[in-house]
Amino acid sequence: MSQDLMRYAARMDLSKMGAIMPRRMAHIAQGAPVPPKLDYAANLTAKALHPKCQKLLVAEVIEREGGAKSFVLRAQEGGELARFRAGQFLSFSLAIGGSTITRAYSLCCPPSWAKQGKYMITVKPSEDGFAGNWICANWHEGTQVTASAPLGEFSYTRLRDARHILGVCGGSGVTPFCAMACAIAEGSEDYSLTLLYGSRDSDSILLGEELAALAQRCERFTLVNVLERGGGDESGYITTELIKKYMPEGDCSLFVCGPAAMMQAMETAIAPLGLPERRIRRKTYGVTEAALEADWPQEAAGKTFSLTVKMRDQTYTVPCASGETVLVAMERAGLEPPSRCRSGECGWCRSRLSAGTVYIPARTEHRRKADLAYGYIHPCCSFPTSDLTLCVGCE
Ligand code: FES
Repeated sequence: MSQDLMRYAARMDLSKMGAIMPRRMAHIAQGAPVPPKLDYAANLTAKALHPKCQKLLVAEVIEREGGAKSFVLRAQEGGELARFRAGQFLSFSLAIGGSTITRAYSLCCPPSWAKQGKYMITVKPSEDGFAGNWICANWHEGTQVTASAPLGEFSYTRLRDARHILGVCGGSGVTPFCAMACAIAEGSEDYSLTLLYGSRDSDSILLGEELAALAQRCERFTLVNVLERGGGDESGYITTELIKKYMPEGDCSLFVCGPAAMMQAMETAIAPLGLPERRIRRKTYGVTEAALEADWPQEAAGKTFSLTVKMRDQTYTVPCASGETVLVAMERAGLEPPSRCRSGECGWCRSRLSAGTVYIPARTEHRRKADLAYGYIHPCCSFPTSDLTLCVGCE
């Protein structure tokens, strides 16, 4: 013990130590019988608006065109649901086989439904589909599901967007526009929407009746059905010329949503329009196929690489085929990595790549500059081009 400390200890009256506990107990006895309130109104509101997850229940199943189904979802414990902006999506956790995966589905109901305690999504099965087919086969009235809070930037923002949106979509890509049209019709949004909706034929128009009814009763929503096989408002494909034909005079924002193949074609179609990037919003539906991308490194074709994953204090080594994303490889191995949007936007899956190289399609490249510099990737839209070592959840 130092000299100073010994002098200090010598001056202390240790007999007073025994009085401390009775004094403390007297203070505690004077306190309120109930614990102090720690949840303030602002915290409760924030929690309600941005819950970590939502426990929902399938309340109704509505059969749609081409085997698609709309699912009306309610809170398992009743009450209101987290609010959303028309165009946002929910990310669902699905336990399929031995894996837990996520899938994002756009809300396709008016935003006012959240206050009434319900949401609606529409899911279309497809020949080579996986999660959508599983949902359509396994979700029934009463099924309990877990979803994220509403997420995504595919929605009108007054500061960024023009007051007129030209929407371009195909297949299930119509669902966020359905919510936008509902929001305009119910008066909760004050922009105008012209929607170019590409489908193969009249039988494959998803939510066709609902959209037609909305267009009829709301003059700020215009629907243009573009049918490949003819017979719609327009025939053939959505081209630069067609987009120009329906582009409003003056300023407009362009929102594009559809499957990966369509999104790729749309990049070529929208480039000549010369719109500033801030006026363009993109959302890709379904799985991106690396092999379809023009700049995918062909030498990776047909190869399977070794993926070493460090996650939650464990190290795993799993195979990762060149045509599948790093996220899918981890999910297939049952690792349960974090994910939400699956299109490179939310950053929820952000992980550090400490060895190896990946291919990232340009339109799914949403990483911050610092992440690019320090080797972080979004596994949901990264395809391996060599063996990889990935650290999930590492800073
Ligand atoms: S899950 Fe959103 S960026 Fe990967």
